[in-house]
Amino acid sequence: MNKETKIYIAGHRGMVGSAIWRKLEKEGYTNLIGRTSKELDLRNQQAVNTFFDTEAPEVVIDAAARVGGILANNDYPYQFLMENLQIQNNLIDASHKNNVEKFIFLGSSCIYPKHAPQPLKEEYLLTDSLEPTNEWYAIAKIAGVKACEAIRKQFDKDFVSLMPTNLYGSHDNFDLQTSHVLPAMIRKFHEAKENSEPVKLWGSGTPMREFLHVDDLADAVFFALEKELKENLYNVGTGKDLTIKELAETIQKITGHTGEIIWDNSKPDGTPRKLMNVDKLKNEGWSASTSLEEGIQKTYSWFLENNTNYKQVKL
Ligand SMILES: NC(=O)c1ccc[n+]([C@@H]2O[C@H](COP(=O)([O-])OP(=O)(O)OC[C@H]3O[C@@H](n4cnc5c(N)ncnc54)[C@H](OP(=O)(O)O)[C@@H]3O)[C@@H](O)[C@H]2O)c1
Repeated sequence: MNKETKIYIAGHRGMVGSAIWRKLEKEGYTNLIGRTSKELDLRNQQAVNTFFDTEAPEVVIDAAARVGGILANNDYPYQFLMENLQIQNNLIDASHKNNVEKFIFLGSSCIYPKHAPQPLKEEYLLTDSLEPTNEWYAIAKIAGVKACEAIRKQFDKDFVSLMPTNLYGSHDNFDLQTSHVLPAMIRKFHEAKENSEPVKLWGSGTPMREFLHVDDLADAVFFALEKELKENLYNVGTGKDLTIKELAETIQKITGHTGEIIWDNSKPDGTPRKLMNVDKLKNEGWSASTSLEEGIQKTYSWFLENNTNYKQVKL
């Protein structure tokens, strides 16, 4: 591996893929390649094989996926299961057959069982049933982790899976119908400040969540790229959580909103706590470095500079 190594970042225009691209460029990698979904539909096996024959990437980072929240998962279960299986199977198999040196697969914390003990350890995978609302997506991601593990075990290749916690940052989705909690709050507090209104938020504010800035995930991917990790599966997070109420107060301070926060208790809270155990990657030498305040500040600045795009619906 050197700075001229040909690295294909699948999903390079997404929130995660674009952060990885920026990080590797900053670190001096000069031979990065990417394709939009229009240029290369990763669900199409023949197109993927032709791309690998022509481009012959030496390293592949898989940040391409059909992603979305509970509503989208609920409305499109078949697409969430099948498209993610197709995308990752085509990439993993083509990488294996074309002797790709290193493959980094990105999944999510939803692969762990709904009632697994907290903080979530890698060893809890497949010990109990999944959260039903996103099991379609989770089952595809588990298949990806297992495919990489099988290649590692049978062919001794450096195929590794990284499971990030909730992410946020530049290029996040700020559409209120489909966005995650943190970008949705940034938009709500910003608009309420502009209109001198109170902010209405779902639930009681008591559930606890963990958030990782996407630039820290990109840093973890860079770490996994340069180091040969010993095992097949690693969680990536901060290892620290906070209540949704504390998150709201932090965002309120950063956006400069001074009005009231109204909690709508008639709306569901979701799972009470979701925190990753990040000791395994820490023991290898990596930990997150962006504080939540700093990360939200950066994200809010990005939102302000790009707010003509934030109404874009992703699904
Ligand atoms: N966001 C989070 O909070 C979070 C948390 C944990 C894990 N992750 C993981 O990180 C990965 C990326 O997520 P993200 O948040 O960056 O999502 P995103 O912003 O929606 O980006 C997804 C990318 O996948 C590409 N893609 C989707 N379908 C494709 C297809 N059929 N062919 C080719 N490319 C396709 C899209 O390409 P185009 O833009 O060209 O259409 C897009 O660049 C996913 O595996 C996800 O599980 C995300």
